[in-house]
Amino acid sequence: MNHIKIDPERQIGSISRKIFGGFAEHLGRHIYGGIYEPGSPLADENGFRSDVLAAVRRLKMPVVRYPGGNFVSGYRWRDGVGPKEQRPARVELAWQDIESNHFGTDEFVTWCRALGTEPYLVVNAGDGDMREARDWVEYCNSATDSALANMRRANGFDAPHNVKYWGIGNEVDGQWQIGYKTPEEYARTYKEFAKVMRWVDPSIRLIASATTDWRYQPVERTQLLFEGAPDLLDYLAIHWYVGNHEDDFAQYMTLSEFFEARLSALEGAIAAMRHEMGVERPVHIAVDEWNVWYRARGNTREERDNLEERYNLEDALVVAMHFNAFIRHCRSVRMANIAQIVNVIAPIFTDEEGLFLQTIFHPFELYASNCGDIALDVFWKGDTFSGGDYSGVRTLDVSATIDAAGKKLSLFVVNRSLTETLETRISLSDATFAGNVAASVVNGPDIKAENSFEAPNRVTVTNVAIMAKGSEFVYAFEPHSVTALVFDL
Ligand code: AHR
Repeated sequence: MNHIKIDPERQIGSISRKIFGGFAEHLGRHIYGGIYEPGSPLADENGFRSDVLAAVRRLKMPVVRYPGGNFVSGYRWRDGVGPKEQRPARVELAWQDIESNHFGTDEFVTWCRALGTEPYLVVNAGDGDMREARDWVEYCNSATDSALANMRRANGFDAPHNVKYWGIGNEVDGQWQIGYKTPEEYARTYKEFAKVMRWVDPSIRLIASATTDWRYQPVERTQLLFEGAPDLLDYLAIHWYVGNHEDDFAQYMTLSEFFEARLSALEGAIAAMRHEMGVERPVHIAVDEWNVWYRARGNTREERDNLEERYNLEDALVVAMHFNAFIRHCRSVRMANIAQIVNVIAPIFTDEEGLFLQTIFHPFELYASNCGDIALDVFWKGDTFSGGDYSGVRTLDVSATIDAAGKKLSLFVVNRSLTETLETRISLSDATFAGNVAASVVNGPDIKAENSFEAPNRVTVTNVAIMAKGSEFVYAFEPHSVTALVFDL
């Protein structure tokens, strides 16, 4: 029998709710036809799709990154503010499109406020300059009588938007980026942009683009950023996208080991540089683009199908494994943004008449709704499997959290077995189960099961109330499932 041991006093640290962040880019049908569709019977008075708003609200995203992504490296924010009929349409190079600019800063912030989420803006460090970047901070956050603050007021926003999170550039390490930068070029750009942006608003939190998928000199980039701007770094951003490229389920399920390796490596680089530079305040990791993405790729727009990836159950298991890793690394990962939210590599999929929830929506909602305040250091052992380069990987992938009052314990378990129900003894040290257990299970008929407009619930969540008393409890985890058990202690 498998065994999970939990001691509520073995705490890793507090969890930042910002690990449940999202990312919205001007790309395909994400903004237009996803978030924003004026004239649609489903749109509210702002032109926002209300069915989409209601679905996103269920994900409880505390922060949303915008407007890109690759898009931002050619973006001019001024095009997207003011009267819509005067906004210029531009050729958009990153995704080869025409950008109408009918949705911009003010619409995005209004959408975020309707959701109860913090906006996180990324400035253009591709073909944009530092004046444009600091002007954007002033437009958004200044309460003075300056021309830019008055421009915001004239656009209908008297109070400052108070945008707290600002990224400087996107994937600057990639040749596919407009305005690619060498490690030296970016470190210098970062320092100068960050300096003037902070001079405009000293309260903002800054995110540096450190590495895309751990390629292109990530350690050197981290080192140069610390050496150039040790006091201007709040987060280092890393991106990754994963997929079952070889249609090998076991190999796909070993991604937990890859997440561990990746996060530990970046934690190590940050720790080494903080030590070397004498930086006492923490510098966090923002995994500010992550998801499964591999099918809807290609070089032309048609091949890419505008990145409208369709997800199955095995992808949902991988999304859950991401959250287990972020919870286990809660001391360093203080922000993570699933890329993206609607239609484009996304948990929500729309057409003109409505939407359906993709498989990956369900683990996201499960974790965001049940995650406690503090991560616990769980011990678990039992069945193992081999896949790809790994052997002896535990079949269950586990994380646990507790609320600040120490009364609610949430246990998250991904059973990566294709066929086996895994009976598991869950034992508590120095605490007892008080009775109620809410069990929620994400599962479907088989690992390739997808949701669609025709069959929206092939992969869904089942909720059951059960009981647990004393300090031991046995639960049978279904094959290829994600389970959240929420115990009263
Ligand atoms: O999310 C899609 C794209 O993936 C983003 O624009 C880019 O940052 C990344 O390569």
